[in-house]
Amino acid sequence: MHNDIYTLTSQIIKQKNEGLLYENEEEFQQETRPMATTPLLTMIAAAAENNALGKNNDLIWHISEDLKRFKRLTSGHAIIMGRKTFESMSKALPNRKNIVLTNKKDYQPEGATVVHTLEDALALVKDDSQPFIIGGGEIYRLFMPYCDRIELTRVHHNFEADVFFPEIDLDQWKEITRENINATEEQPYHYSYITFEKK
Ligand SMILES: NC(=O)c1ccc[n+]([C@@H]2O[C@H](COP(=O)([O-])OP(=O)(O)OC[C@H]3O[C@@H](n4cnc5c(N)ncnc54)[C@H](OP(=O)(O)O)[C@@H]3O)[C@@H](O)[C@H]2O)c1
Repeated sequence: MHNDIYTLTSQIIKQKNEGLLYENEEEFQQETRPMATTPLLTMIAAAAENNALGKNNDLIWHISEDLKRFKRLTSGHAIIMGRKTFESMSKALPNRKNIVLTNKKDYQPEGATVVHTLEDALALVKDDSQPFIIGGGEIYRLFMPYCDRIELTRVHHNFEADVFFPEIDLDQWKEITRENINATEEQPYHYSYITFEKK
């Protein structure tokens, strides 16, 4: 019974999240981004107080403003993700260079470039001013030492999950900005946009 309720709820969350991720694809197509000499490698994630990221290879909540922000920040840039995160979406994200990390040598998903090592992923984004690491848990852990910035949406609630964001070591990372957003009737969790930079 509990599982049925969970499945139904997670289906609704998935539909809502995907509706936002793929809507108005054309609105970002005209954007151009300046080239940087050194890419600002940025992790972008939404994690709960207990660092929960996802369950059953899907997101746990639907926060439409956060998804719009994710889309605004990442559009026009390269996004690097793990094979499981790629497969949790129905297709490649539009207006972004989708790079998928996998050990599977014959993996050829539509709309994405496949790499098998962290080094090959980084080589592919060297001309992008701000490439993004978009998850999931394994990939955040792997790339954290190489990143310059973390754009974290901290959802102020604890969730049951099977994938977690790595601890942010405050000896290595400094909080630069924080914006607190209150819960609403439609969206029941308080959350904060927090930017960290490597010290
Ligand atoms: N809340 C958020 O912001 C957020 C963001 C993204 C994802 N998520 C959630 O996170 C979950 C998925 O995360 P996950 O940790 O299970 O998986 P993941 O990090 O998305 O992908 C893991 C896969 O990446 C590949 N991989 C990892 N390290 C590699 C390496 N060194 N070399 C080559 N390939 C490597 C492997 O693919 P193969 O098995 O094919 O070899 C591995 O199975 C889902 O629930 C998703 O919804 C949440």
